[in-house]
Amino acid sequence: MKEDVLFEITKEHLETGLRGVPAGYCVTSAVDPNQGLSYVGHPIRELSARDPIEVIYLLYHGKNGTKEQVGQFQSDLNRRAICTKETLAAIHTLPRTGHPMDGFAGALLIAGMCEGIGNYREDCLNVIARLPQIAAALINHHAGWGAGNPSKPELGYMENFIHMLHMPHPKTPELIQVMRLFDVLHFDHDGGNLSTFVGKAVASGLENMHGSLAAAMTALAGSRHGRANQDCLEFVQGVLKETGELATAADIERLIRKKLQNDELVYGFGHAVLRVEDPRATVCYQYCQKHFSAHPLVKIAMLLRSEGSRVLKENPKISDPYPNVDAITGTMLMAAGFPYPDYFTVLFGLSRCVGIAIQIVYERLEARGGKGTPIMRPNYLYKSR
Ligand code: MLT
Repeated sequence: MKEDVLFEITKEHLETGLRGVPAGYCVTSAVDPNQGLSYVGHPIRELSARDPIEVIYLLYHGKNGTKEQVGQFQSDLNRRAICTKETLAAIHTLPRTGHPMDGFAGALLIAGMCEGIGNYREDCLNVIARLPQIAAALINHHAGWGAGNPSKPELGYMENFIHMLHMPHPKTPELIQVMRLFDVLHFDHDGGNLSTFVGKAVASGLENMHGSLAAAMTALAGSRHGRANQDCLEFVQGVLKETGELATAADIERLIRKKLQNDELVYGFGHAVLRVEDPRATVCYQYCQKHFSAHPLVKIAMLLRSEGSRVLKENPKISDPYPNVDAITGTMLMAAGFPYPDYFTVLFGLSRCVGIAIQIVYERLEARGGKGTPIMRPNYLYKSR
């Protein structure tokens, strides 16, 4: 292969979801099959305990900020953080039926209609600043929890999100910690994950920031993508119901083998790129082990982690028999006191919109020496059926 040839496409690569086919550069993050996610060269495990705003600064500026720089960035976001009354009122007219991810995509479109200014960079910063309020308003409305509390961005990014939610369960310090962790882990996952790719594809036609993000969120809503965190939790709950709280490793192994024999899905394993346990999952497993080890769902999730991988590894056709991030995040949210699985994917979206918005700014305003990438237009080969 010539030195600058990155990838040779053969017919084998057609209809494989463009697996491994390079499409451009990503300036925010990378996913290595054996190391997993890094943001701007920093492994995710090293960033997981940081304040979300510090990590957003890193992704947005492509370098760590000093305390002062991050403080200024935070003040700028805080100034932008309040949605207009029109946006909030319109979100409260959305149907309460359907999955909340549909509502979240709708809420982003509404924000664009009421507040979009048609400048990718400004809209990126505005939307990042207002995402907690947009998501909280949508969840409060969809759940029937009422208007919620007014935004107080000075509380902190995820602290304010929790503050605005009018949830009936107590808002404990543990829940805030878990929400901060969840947010940081989900900001970005290189340029080719489905929602990011869709968002950038839509923006390449010069759709505005909010419309592109809304499209990205409809991509995230699918069960093979963001919705997997809700589905995995339901799987863990089902296993707990079937085996009981005192399940042993042998019970879980037996159950997994039975499911595989019956061609049933074992949720939470495998990834299109990764060939090791997702380091985001490792961080969450460690967190759960430290803080919630006695929780029945956590006990089951831990057994699934070890037994699932052991059994799946026996099948040489399975290229990634290891847990992905969704295997544990739903369980962690439940254990932390957020027992609302319908909103787990909205939490994913609240976080992921940050990375997508920053990647859209790069592709529209910086790529190719500032010309931006052209409209996406891959080639499909005609064949008769
Ligand atoms: C993600 O975080 O987007 C998922 O792990 C899916 C992916 O990377 O393709």
